[in-house]
Amino acid sequence: MSNLVVFDHPLIQHKLSIMRDKNTGVKEFRELLEEIAMLMIYEVTRNLETEEVEVETPICKCKCRKLSGRKLAVVPILRAGLGMVDGVLNMVPAAKVGHIGLYRDPQTLEPVEYYCKLPADSTEREIIVVDPMLATGGSASAAISFIKQRGCTHIRLVNLIAAPEGVKRVQEDHPDVDIFVAGLDSHLNDHGYIVPGLGDAGDRLFGTK
Ligand code: PRP
Ligand code: URA
Repeated sequence: MSNLVVFDHPLIQHKLSIMRDKNTGVKEFRELLEEIAMLMIYEVTRNLETEEVEVETPICKCKCRKLSGRKLAVVPILRAGLGMVDGVLNMVPAAKVGHIGLYRDPQTLEPVEYYCKLPADSTEREIIVVDPMLATGGSASAAISFIKQRGCTHIRLVNLIAAPEGVKRVQEDHPDVDIFVAGLDSHLNDHGYIVPGLGDAGDRLFGTK
């Protein structure tokens, strides 16, 4: 079974509380999502491989460590995942970016794919899938399946808020994919929204409602 990591860092929890507030506007919501993504990626990448290298400082030669393993690709699930990309790139500027377009059919709650473009060398990369909301888990599970169908084997999922139902779905469908969340909420309501959640992440991020 894949790991679930819930970040309890005070800065992340403080920022998430402001995002949940229905009175927080688009500008602040967007800024906070980017900031939390930046803080989360710091921990998500904690176990990346490094190798010893020699560096000559102005004083002397010394042994240091540099990243040596797979390079990263960040893959937002459109649309709301876009709000986490800059936060990741602030920390890992050389990461490539792929895009997966999925929307959740409001009647069936099933994900519908409308776009997928991954970096050409994505099979050699560590793929970080980002999406603020993990509700039923249908979108994330489908996105990961599409990425696997294209040959990728090393995948991590990063969400702002998850419902237990979504975590269970991804863990069952993709036991090899570790999940990182800032908040693990109570449950889903009858419309498939996370309770207490923060409402519709895409609408709050882009101001479309
Ligand atoms: C939201 C969210 C996830 C999905 C989660 O996207 O950003 O992608 O719902 O729900 P699930 O776990 O039940 O699949 P939405 O479908 O609203 O599209 P949007 O990002 O374009 O607003
Ligand atoms: N998508 C959202 O944006 N919010 C939810 O609570 C569930 C799915």
